[in-house]
Amino acid sequence: MFLVCALLFLLGMWVPFSEASTPRTEVRINQAALDYVAQVGLNSFQDALKMQLTDFLYYQRGHLQRIPVFMLENDISHLSLKLIPNYGIHLSTSGHVGMTFFLERNLQKLRVGITTEADIVISQAAIGTLVLGISLCNTTIEEVNLTYSEDGSKEIWNSIHGYIKAILPHKPCSKLSFLVEGLNVYMGTLIGLRTIGPESQISYSLTHPPTITKDYISLAIKATFVLLGKPIVFPPPPSSFSLPQQVGSSTAMINFGLSQGLFDSIHFLMQKSGSINLDITGQLNSKNNQLTTSVLGNLIPEVLRQFPNSMPLVLKARVNAEPIVTIHNNQTSLWIQYLLDVLAVSSNSAFKSLFSLDMAVDLALNIFMSGGKLQANASLQKDIEFNVTSSNVGVLDLLGVKPLLRSAVKEPLTEHLNALFGLGVTLPSIAKANFISPQVFVYEGYIVVSCGLHFQD
Ligand SMILES: *[C@@H]1O[C@H](CO)[C@@H](O)[C@H](O)[C@H]1NC(C)=O
Ligand SMILES: *[C@@H]1O[C@H](CO)[C@@H](O)[C@H](O)[C@H]1NC(C)=O
Ligand SMILES: *[C@@H]1O[C@H](CO)[C@@H](O)[C@H](O)[C@H]1NC(C)=O
Ligand SMILES: *[C@@H]1O[C@H](CO)[C@@H](O)[C@H](O)[C@H]1NC(C)=O
Ligand SMILES: *[C@@H]1O[C@H](CO)[C@@H](O)[C@H](O)[C@H]1NC(C)=O
Repeated sequence: MFLVCALLFLLGMWVPFSEASTPRTEVRINQAALDYVAQVGLNSFQDALKMQLTDFLYYQRGHLQRIPVFMLENDISHLSLKLIPNYGIHLSTSGHVGMTFFLERNLQKLRVGITTEADIVISQAAIGTLVLGISLCNTTIEEVNLTYSEDGSKEIWNSIHGYIKAILPHKPCSKLSFLVEGLNVYMGTLIGLRTIGPESQISYSLTHPPTITKDYISLAIKATFVLLGKPIVFPPPPSSFSLPQQVGSSTAMINFGLSQGLFDSIHFLMQKSGSINLDITGQLNSKNNQLTTSVLGNLIPEVLRQFPNSMPLVLKARVNAEPIVTIHNNQTSLWIQYLLDVLAVSSNSAFKSLFSLDMAVDLALNIFMSGGKLQANASLQKDIEFNVTSSNVGVLDLLGVKPLLRSAVKEPLTEHLNALFGLGVTLPSIAKANFISPQVFVYEGYIVVSCGLHFQD
């Protein structure tokens, strides 16, 4: 959104990076997200359990026989993830696995009930990502039933039982730990740089270990902006930010809390970068071109005197104060003050400044999510205001000139800002995670985006 425009033209600017003053966001992951992860995870776990097991070694008639054993099907029907406050997640899963023993002359199939329980600890890695690890895991073997036996013999039943007790309990835990390691690879992508404009990127990382309650996992996240490979500094630290208990949608899988501090840092960038500056020229070949010295000369005789032949005008709008975003309940506003220089092209193609004005623009922002990015739509909520700051064409009748300037500035300016704000900013995310059905809530001093989670294949 704003920061995009801000960064576009920051080229070359570099200031030392200050860790303490980076903008904050809070991400709350609710039980609903865990339920979705459990549902996706169940399929992965079912697939992971399909394997060939260690051979079953069996003495028969004085020979050691190696019996191949396969576990190719299962109906693990249940996997649940529950939050453990201040710790992590408890995982439990249960169902049956089918085992096939390829005995020399007697194929045997068994159905074994298993229950696996694991505790997953969630912590912060040194690089500022989430890291998951299994701290406890055990599998209980429930009943073992023979479902098929080629010659009906049960002579080696006891040996098979012993084998199952020895081999099987480790498998679900080692597969789980493999899956969790795989998840950590995705968690690591949080800190990846995401392009938000030419040469400009944003990256997120954790500032603290996650806070885990019985209802959610809360992540304190900071944003780092990078331009041409260099981090950008922000003004003094915003006050610390934490979300109230009940915000956004209570049924959402994830709530993102975006602080005033985040928006403040964006103002800073907007001001410094010059990307919201704008030059406005009239439609040179249009009969209706209002931006000429002859049109202006009708209002200011001195202009007509200096430019007897009609010449085109150029309006140069330059931000000359820090833009201010205010976030009120259900209403976000952006106030920008420009110095507007009104110039005429003189006969030798040089620009001559006619007069300058302070110009205040008061915009209502409609903040929304689109294509996974936070974007804004700006519209004027008041007439553009002007005050004369200097004049080379004598005393100005501001009342007379205002309507001309307003109509010349209004459309190009809102179009320019909307194009910039429409580039959008990615929210903190990991690879393959998409945010669906987003809703934006505007509170006093902060914005919450509530959404669902969907993993791409
Ligand atoms: C199995 O693991 C769970 C943790 O997931 C633990 O609470 C339980 O005590 C463990 N059981 C045994 C028998 O170790
Ligand atoms: C095993 O057999 C018992 C009865 O013999 C039955 O109650 C149980 O559901 C069976 N279990 C499986 C996993 O098929
Ligand atoms: C904001 O808008 C929502 C939905 O229109 C409404 O439920 C809520 O009360 C409004 N809040 C304020 C502070 O006006
Ligand atoms: C113009 O001056 C008035 C009075 O000093 C002030 O209230 C207003 O904010 C100024 N407007 C602009 C656009 O600078
Ligand atoms: C943005 O504002 C323009 C004009 O006010 C409107 O036509 C457009 O639909 C808006 N877009 C969104 C996404 O709100």
